Amino acid sequence: MSPDTQQWTPIHGQPYRPAPYRPERMASGESLARAAELRARMDERRTVRHFSPDPVPEQVVRDAVACAATAPSGAHQQPWTFVLVKDPAVRRQIRAAAEQEEALSYDGRLGDEWLAALRPLGTDAVKTHLTDAPALIVVFQQRYWLGPDGAKHKHYYVDESVGIAVGMLLSALHLSGLAALIHTPSPMRFLSRVLGRPENEKAFAVIPVGYPAADCEVPDLVRKSLDQVIVEV
Ligand SMILES: Cc1cc2nc3c(=O)[nH]c(=O)nc-3n(C[C@H](O)[C@H](O)[C@H](O)COP(=O)(O)O)c2cc1C
Repeated sequence: MSPDTQQWTPIHGQPYRPAPYRPERMASGESLARAAELRARMDERRTVRHFSPDPVPEQVVRDAVACAATAPSGAHQQPWTFVLVKDPAVRRQIRAAAEQEEALSYDGRLGDEWLAALRPLGTDAVKTHLTDAPALIVVFQQRYWLGPDGAKHKHYYVDESVGIAVGMLLSALHLSGLAALIHTPSPMRFLSRVLGRPENEKAFAVIPVGYPAADCEVPDLVRKSLDQVIVEV
């Protein structure tokens, strides 16, 4: 699957073209109700590491990717590619390569401090989610884009833009009833090789998507309260 480069042209260098934007203002009562509902729904989201192999409606995943692709991005450069991996053979290849890297990481490459930070999560080098979940979304950052003449053009704020898009992706998946995990095996170069991605793309994360297994467990974690994360000036 490759992004549709036929329909889309970069706006780089084009003049400013204003368009009217007049969304209907929401009544404050409705706004409050929606915010409270959304807060409660988002608080239910958990990172799932034990997936059922049951299939998911593929259009839900595509719609979630479409939501992610509405994210703001530096200079509107939209520096992301989402590779949807359904083929079980490719998922097995990704798992084998990821577990090779993770074994080195958990065997000491991460260092004591990092391993101590991971201990409460109960994770190890075995990554069953990569083959149990019915789909993986592998997110790539486009570090630069190539002009028609083959010249390399810089993308701005790539990390921030892709991070925001992935946040929106995880939210969309959750609010659509699917579970997900953001998995960042380190290093991730093998993903470009296995998925045949071009030079300008760098893997950002692998996101298994599916339903939690019937016996799924998650670490019992406590989130910071609003008071601990907000400063009002
Ligand atoms: C950038 C980033 C990288 C992550 N990488 C991994 C990972 O490689 N493996 C994993 O099991 N969880 C990974 N996580 C998931 C976190 O461990 C998880 O979000 C955190 O423990 C909080 O749990 P919650 O998502 O259930 O609230 C990652 C999360 C983020 C934001």
